[in-house]
Amino acid sequence: MAPLTLAFRSPGDHVEKWRAALASLLPDLNFLSWQEVTDPAAVDVALCWLPPEGWLSSLPNLKLVHSLGAGVDHVLLDKLYPAQVPLVRLVDPHMTRAMTEYVTFQVLRLHLTEPAYRRQQQAGQWKPHTQPRASERRVGILGLGELGAASAASLVDLGFDVAGWSRTPKTLDGVACFSGDDGFQAFLARTEILVCLLPLTPATEGILSAAAFAQMPRGAGLINVGRGRHLVEADLLAALDSGQVSEAVLDVFPKEPLAADHPFWQHERIVVTPHVAALTHPGTASLIVAENLRRLVQGEPWPDRVDLASGY
Ligand code: NAP
Ligand code: GLV
Repeated sequence: MAPLTLAFRSPGDHVEKWRAALASLLPDLNFLSWQEVTDPAAVDVALCWLPPEGWLSSLPNLKLVHSLGAGVDHVLLDKLYPAQVPLVRLVDPHMTRAMTEYVTFQVLRLHLTEPAYRRQQQAGQWKPHTQPRASERRVGILGLGELGAASAASLVDLGFDVAGWSRTPKTLDGVACFSGDDGFQAFLARTEILVCLLPLTPATEGILSAAAFAQMPRGAGLINVGRGRHLVEADLLAALDSGQVSEAVLDVFPKEPLAADHPFWQHERIVVTPHVAALTHPGTASLIVAENLRRLVQGEPWPDRVDLASGY
């Protein structure tokens, strides 16, 4: 097989880091930024984040689309996605570790009443709150895939009472596992801190809604690290106003960057982070991409191939 030609496309500025990282691993790879593609028919692989609609289908001999992230909703937004071309997502242990750190940190913050103590400090207020033990705090993780399962394991290690929800039934050490529509209500009813680590699909869009918040114990906390469109923003604002939700940590938004005049920025019960819970690092992610390119050349299946029917 002739050396592969890979076209890289991302609104971010990592192209030169990727070029260098992949060159050191695959010296024969013909790496092109999308602007350098002069012959679309020569492109074998697209490595991309948020490709504009129609770009992938303009590459007639594409053999593989590789997501620059764990999620693939940014690729499948393209209504012209060439359905015959395999789509592979990024599963990088370093990204899993980063997400685990972020989720653990934010769960601990909410568990330890840290947002309230910050507000009290600003008001010069000395007011201790009752502090449950970790074993008395019920944390629920929506999504028990690569990132959800690892985050759950870290919280179990810290002694939290952890549950998780997935599409298909799961068994995870120390985690109360719920699944499907039937398990959703019981999962929510016992969840005091809710972490969303679902992929964005037609089945999960808007899942963080007034109906879901109403089924959780009053004063529950929310951490959304999935996608912005999982959350119905107006429902969150109403739930924070009513006290049904006490605090929210949001890393992802339907439109990023978050608009300067968005009410989330100034909300005293919302923490905003700029989609950084688990970043893609070319240094480690390139090893995964290189392995997936080897599989392409050798005709081996990809463990992290996306099922286009379910969208994740
Ligand atoms: P994954 O391994 O594909 O896991 C997805 C999990 O969600 C699986 O447990 C799956 O259930 C469950 N799920 C999917 N659809 C469902 C449904 N309709 N009902 C119930 N459960 C459902 O994905 P991952 O690698 O953990 O990543 C999850 C998401 O995290 C990504 O898609 C991305 O949106 C987000 N993410 C965010 C950041 C960030 O920096 N904020 C970074 C990376 C990823 P089954 O196990 O039954 O299939
Ligand atoms: C980031 O959000 C990713 O999907 O990797």
